[in-house]
Amino acid sequence: MDRSSLVERPRRNRRTAALRDLVRETTLTPADLVQPLFVIDGTSDEPIESMPGCARLTPEGLLREAHAAWNAGVRAVALFPAIDDTLKDPRATESLNPEGLLPRVVRQLKRELPDLLVITDVAMDPYSSDGHDGIVENGEILNDPTLAVLADMAVVQAEAGADLVAPSDMMDGRVQAIRTRLDDAGHDQVGILAYTAKYASSYYGPFRDALDSAPKHGDKKTYQMDAGNVVEAIREARLDVAEGADIVMVKPAGPYLDVIAAVRAAVDLPVAAYQVSGEYAMVRAVAERGWMDGDALMLESLTGIKRAGASIILTYFATRAAELLG
Ligand code: PBG
Repeated sequence: MDRSSLVERPRRNRRTAALRDLVRETTLTPADLVQPLFVIDGTSDEPIESMPGCARLTPEGLLREAHAAWNAGVRAVALFPAIDDTLKDPRATESLNPEGLLPRVVRQLKRELPDLLVITDVAMDPYSSDGHDGIVENGEILNDPTLAVLADMAVVQAEAGADLVAPSDMMDGRVQAIRTRLDDAGHDQVGILAYTAKYASSYYGPFRDALDSAPKHGDKKTYQMDAGNVVEAIREARLDVAEGADIVMVKPAGPYLDVIAAVRAAVDLPVAAYQVSGEYAMVRAVAERGWMDGDALMLESLTGIKRAGASIILTYFATRAAELLG
């Protein structure tokens, strides 16, 4: 009898759906996902043109979307306020107003959905008339004077009920500054999700449309990372760990899978990744044209991000993906 000379036949493990389920190495679950939501101080939701399916939500709309996320099995939301132009100034003063839009909606969310994790963005740009993440003086983004603003902002957010504060500014030393101020204010149980390796990326375009937060002059390359670097991401991760971060994050996600893997290998903290607005927009755009299957692309892109080493994924698809995952 003619015997096959093949000893190994990898296809045997792919023969049926049950086998494939059995041997799958990476499985997405709704609890891995964080739903970012935009909120506006208005009376009707405003669709975001470059992010089909997303809107600047009224506080009421935000509650609706938070409930939908929770009911689908998503356990966390990340909030981004769109601030009226008249409230913006060079020092982002409105970010420290305890009665401002963000603290108000955080309190409301924690009242209505106490178990839902609320993650707040610590950054000046939504509140800054310069559209930068730090204080600008003579065209320069000042590092150390910005730290005090970020630390104060984190305390306001913690006081409102945020479970995790997420500095997205990329100033040096901000995790330590925020940790110290939070502890001094009695918030030692509020965690820090650090945007550890945040790249200067074209993929943020739709987000800046959503918040009208694009820099008024210059770009963000003196603080956000250069797309060519990965060793530097390890350095940033080492610093964030030393400064007291609870979770480290890589952003964007899809074009930076090697960075996610490298950071995963370098730290003993949970690693998050942010599938950003441009990644979302690209999937939605090709799906709208009928060029590819949007839901399939969505799940494959998220699986790839998790396989690379991120156990937490911020994605505008969170609720939709969770609904499909069941
Ligand atoms: C800024 C911030 C940005 C995003 C999150 N926080 C944009 C930027 O750095 O200009 C981008 C998120 C996305 O594109 O989905 N603090």
